[in-house]
Amino acid sequence: MVDAKTRLYGVIGFPTRHSLSPSMHNAAFRALGINAVYLAFEVHPEELGDAIKGFRALSISGLNVTMPHKEAIIHFLDSLSEDSGEIGSVNTVVNRNGKLEGHTTDGIGARRALERVIELGERRILIIGAGGAGKAIAYELAKDNDVVVLNRTPEKVKVLERFGITGDALNRGNLGKYLKWAEVLINATPVGMNSWETPVPGEMLRKDLVVMDIVYKPLKTRLLTEAELRGCKTVDGLWMLVYQGIESFRLWTGLEPDEGLMRGAALESLSQ
Ligand SMILES: NC(=O)c1ccc[n+]([C@@H]2O[C@H](COP(=O)([O-])OP(=O)(O)OC[C@H]3O[C@@H](n4cnc5c(N)ncnc54)[C@H](OP(=O)(O)O)[C@@H]3O)[C@@H](O)[C@H]2O)c1
Repeated sequence: MVDAKTRLYGVIGFPTRHSLSPSMHNAAFRALGINAVYLAFEVHPEELGDAIKGFRALSISGLNVTMPHKEAIIHFLDSLSEDSGEIGSVNTVVNRNGKLEGHTTDGIGARRALERVIELGERRILIIGAGGAGKAIAYELAKDNDVVVLNRTPEKVKVLERFGITGDALNRGNLGKYLKWAEVLINATPVGMNSWETPVPGEMLRKDLVVMDIVYKPLKTRLLTEAELRGCKTVDGLWMLVYQGIESFRLWTGLEPDEGLMRGAALESLSQ
């Protein structure tokens, strides 16, 4: 029941119409008997500051942040987690007694998705893409593993070098070189989203490679389809979305929602 005690959460982005987060989080609030609702707020970049002022005034309990606000929102927050500060990106805001804290759960979401199929141990990891998601994943995984990031614009990977990450240009030569070295491959570009393109030609994949695509529309991208054909273990991007959502939920409530429930809600929303 929605009443005077109902807490409000939401996602802010531009656009947000197709976000799967409201379905996931509302399902979790219901299942755990928490009196809260989660909405999608479409906020134009020029209105981000006003929106945050409004969220403060209305004591909104927590937010997810998506494109294009993940970096810009930092200027309007009171504090940042260490991870958010290091990579300059926020995907979760927690309202703690009127103070807005910025966090990032993309990296840990990717880690937990990978750990569904392998123990990361000391495996060598190749990430394609150094945008917001690629940087967050690289930073998180480089805490324990050797990580190489290839990016179309090579200058953008330089910022990662201070975390011990090797950055290089995305081209066929480097793909061949680093795929020989890598044990885990992660696509963190939008290549393959709503299209039959792939960032890595199928013939370059080997059976013993673990392949994760963070794109989840379609759920089985061309990269994952070709990886499965070669016998690779694969992880789809919806698992990362589910786990980053679970980590946000945990920051807001201290509780861990059921992953099957969150994925089921996301899948249902994805199919609509
Ligand atoms: N599953 C999840 O939970 C999750 C979470 C976050 C994001 N995502 C998805 O991940 C993708 C990336 O998101 P993001 O926030 O990191 O985006 P972003 O900040 O815009 O970064 C995009 C990255 O992809 C590269 N790129 C774009 N088009 C490319 C192309 N045609 N060929 C090669 N590289 C290309 C960009 O390279 P340049 O630097 O050269 O431009 C950049 O490194 C999106 O599809 C997003 O929906 C999924």
